[in-house]
Amino acid sequence: MRIIRCKDYADMSRKAANIISAQVIMKPHARLGLATGTTPIGAYQQLIEWYEKGDLDFSEVSTYNLDEYRGLSHDDPQSYHYFMCKNLFDHVNIDLARTHVPDGSDPDAQAACASYDALVKEAGYTDLQLLGIGNNGHIGFNEPDDAFSKGTHCVDLTESTIQANSRLFESIDDVPRQAYTMGVQTIMRARAILVIASGAAKAQAVYDMCFGPVTPRVPASILQLHTNCTVIADEAALGLCS
Ligand code: PGA
Repeated sequence: MRIIRCKDYADMSRKAANIISAQVIMKPHARLGLATGTTPIGAYQQLIEWYEKGDLDFSEVSTYNLDEYRGLSHDDPQSYHYFMCKNLFDHVNIDLARTHVPDGSDPDAQAACASYDALVKEAGYTDLQLLGIGNNGHIGFNEPDDAFSKGTHCVDLTESTIQANSRLFESIDDVPRQAYTMGVQTIMRARAILVIASGAAKAQAVYDMCFGPVTPRVPASILQLHTNCTVIADEAALGLCS
């Protein structure tokens, strides 16, 4: 694991955007694994800025998002599909047909997850997977568990994740209780992984991810076994990593 220490959120965002844009410049038809949440918004803004300046071209890029809430359709303002349009896709020249997010509106969890997993596999998995990390060490919606998950599957969100995500909903009762998420095995197939983290609330999870035992109780800890994983985190998130 390579750890890049950043001053603050803006610095983290710029450094993450640099790596993503380098991937797109090296391989214009790159397959990017994308993440939602508050952490990547700054990196997406930076990419939009560089696109507007004419430095980046997304026309051949394909994207595969990590997860989606179960029960939300693509145009629901709380869906991750909507989030991606609002925070990135609507602002760059990406071909929407090449963007992929699990279909939360499909009530058949098994079918929805199996077809998403097949899609990512047939594409050859991602060249670069961007990840945030949950306060509890989750990646995607792979929550602490007794075993590492494999392919895309339906998960029950933990109380701590529901709590953390409720800030983005009107009330905690509105937070969906389930999600479809790429599994840990699918995530680990990416050629390169980029984890971003900001703020003191992530400090324990970041420490456990980088220096703790590799255990499904901290799903992100498996990233220690990936051969090309970069962690970009600010001072606060690295507060326990001296
Ligand atoms: P956040 O979420 O970026 O909103 O903190 C990260 C995550 O839960 O993976």
